[in-house]
Amino acid sequence: MTHDPAHDASALPAPADDAATQAPTPTGADVRRGPLRLGDKVQLTDPRGRLHTITLATGATFHTHRGYLSHEDLVGLPEGSVVRNTAGIEYLALRPLLADYVLSMPRGAAVVYPKDAGQIVAMADIYPGARVVEAGVGSGALTMSLLRAVGDQGTVHSIERREDFAAIARGNVELFFGGEHPAWELSVGDLSDVLPQVAEKGSIDRVVLDMLAPWENLDAVADALAPGGVLICYVATATQLSRLAEDLRSDGRYAEPSAWESLVRGWHLEGLAVRPQHRMVGHTGFLLTARRLADGTVAPLRKRRPAKGSYPVAEEWTPEDLGERSVSDKRVRRVRRDVGQGAQLDPRTGQPLEPVEATTEDSVAPDGQAQDTQDVSDVLDND
Ligand SMILES: C[S@@+](CC[C@H](N)C(=O)[O-])C[C@H]1O[C@@H](n2cnc3c(N)ncnc32)[C@H](O)[C@@H]1O
Repeated sequence: MTHDPAHDASALPAPADDAATQAPTPTGADVRRGPLRLGDKVQLTDPRGRLHTITLATGATFHTHRGYLSHEDLVGLPEGSVVRNTAGIEYLALRPLLADYVLSMPRGAAVVYPKDAGQIVAMADIYPGARVVEAGVGSGALTMSLLRAVGDQGTVHSIERREDFAAIARGNVELFFGGEHPAWELSVGDLSDVLPQVAEKGSIDRVVLDMLAPWENLDAVADALAPGGVLICYVATATQLSRLAEDLRSDGRYAEPSAWESLVRGWHLEGLAVRPQHRMVGHTGFLLTARRLADGTVAPLRKRRPAKGSYPVAEEWTPEDLGERSVSDKRVRRVRRDVGQGAQLDPRTGQPLEPVEATTEDSVAPDGQAQDTQDVSDVLDND
């Protein structure tokens, strides 16, 4: 076997011990390592798997109806240690991960769940050194993922219209990172007022919006975004998603948006009983991304034409507006008869209306059953 120095650990340069040549430790890394210290958040898991989060403090105790333990019993232990309370009940002690922290921290507004925060960081391509703007901030859950992704050399400018929510977010973020984060700025105000004041035109790489009406800010965001920059929005309902997509298209400064949702299903792992968990978080929100075009560029026309009636012209929505196929009265009469609800009576004569023959609208399957002619690709082409 040949010796390849490139794969020989002994051939790698020794780690530099000169402190001056070492990169500074990224913000927050220190508080996530080493033995448990006073001020740390610690997650205690009891024998039933229930989680209890405490912040280690001098003289404090963790009480349940079955005994207590002193916080100081935990100080100095490595993470992953087991401690016993006065009743002999054992608890596993670990620092919460970011995903645990977000779900247990105090909240003013609903938080972006870790599964969506992961999607946002990946799909909006948030990279170390990126210049990111975020609004609203709510409880600061997403802010922490964004700060981790941009690192100390990037910037996250978070804008929140509610002063009280901004204060909660600051508390959560600073507790998580063990102090101020050098990449973070937080402004109180409405995004469309604040953004033009804090960001030069075309200077922002990524904009992340989690708010009720993101379409109200598309103008300010388009001004701030650099060509090729990414806008990512998180919305809770399909109606918000639709409004946002249409307004992005009519703005003209964004490329064609794409949207998706993610579903995460946990698994139960017990001996041979390895199966999906019975319960899951069925819906959190939808994500949409759109890229900023270069100034003066007109997006190429889409090759696929939207289904007829996809864009409402009247106030009232029709099935066509929603991409649904309309159903003729004739077909409804036939279905009604098929389900044994009798033929419709002619209101003038009181006699049954003409029986309905199978038409080109319906086709007949080999087994003689009438079937819907619309196939899956038609449905998919309507989107
Ligand atoms: C659902 S919360 C955001 C939660 C946050 N992403 C998190 O993970 O904790 C929505 C926030 O947007 C704020 N908001 C709504 N419209 C805004 C606007 N135009 N400018 C700034 N903040 C806005 C609201 O006050 C609210 O706090």
